[in-house]
Amino acid sequence: MASGSAQGKLIVCGEHAVVYGHPALAIGIDRLTTVTVERTHGPTEIVSEQGVTERLKRAVWATVGDDSFVVTIRSQIPVGRGLGSSAALSVALVRAHAACMGQVLDDETTHARSLAVETVFHGTPSGIDNAVAAHGGLVRFRRTPDGPRWTQLAVPDLRVVVLDSGLEGDTGSLVAGVRSRNPANSGILEAIGALTDPVQSALEDVGALGPLLSQNHALLRQLGVSHDRLDALVAFALDNGATGAKLAGAGGGGVVIAVSGDPNALVARADAAGIPSFVTHIRTGAP
Ligand code: PMV
Repeated sequence: MASGSAQGKLIVCGEHAVVYGHPALAIGIDRLTTVTVERTHGPTEIVSEQGVTERLKRAVWATVGDDSFVVTIRSQIPVGRGLGSSAALSVALVRAHAACMGQVLDDETTHARSLAVETVFHGTPSGIDNAVAAHGGLVRFRRTPDGPRWTQLAVPDLRVVVLDSGLEGDTGSLVAGVRSRNPANSGILEAIGALTDPVQSALEDVGALGPLLSQNHALLRQLGVSHDRLDALVAFALDNGATGAKLAGAGGGGVVIAVSGDPNALVARADAAGIPSFVTHIRTGAP
């Protein structure tokens, strides 16, 4: 028996644009997925508290095959919220299977194998989620013609408030929708990518960072991936002390992230309004 873990993530800047080669920033958060792989006789069995969908079956079979293993998944990351649940599952599964087979994987192989699993969930992922799921911390990611390039940056002292819409977004169809509107929307994607450097420079200054996040949200709205509930959560955050807020992840549901001089006060207001929320710091290092 062997196990592997990986962490959830939040995209601070650059979702969707990253699919088209623009730079993006993402952080690892303190929520883990752990997968245990065990040899058995007979067909591969999957045990998951979050349910076993057809896509999950195909993802597991793509890694361990449809015979001879019991795969048990335990996850603290809700599905479809832009928190990187499928990437964390993909990385944890690849790690657990490799450990079960006595293999030691380097970073590039882990990334490539987990991206193949993630493809079962999302079609054409950029790879940013998998890079963060594997390494945590603060990652600057760019897709290039020579493959994915990512750098682990010094971790800033940043706390992010996460407000949950309670709705599930479907990353695959949102990414496909953006592609169907391309190249008409390429100016919006470029403008999103252009925010990454200023956001990176402002990570320790919520006064400067907030308005950049709100600009990012406005561009994602123009791109057609927001949702009334997400726009309402952004407005709620701004009305309750946030300096800025944006949807995080593919959109269509999922979460909004907000920054504030007093993150705990924003969470208390959200609690009072019945909005599920939490404050997260950046979790570093492979779990
Ligand atoms: O799976 P999500 O919701 O965290 O979104 C992934 C980020 C996208 O840029 C929308 C897609 C991608 O593959 O980079």
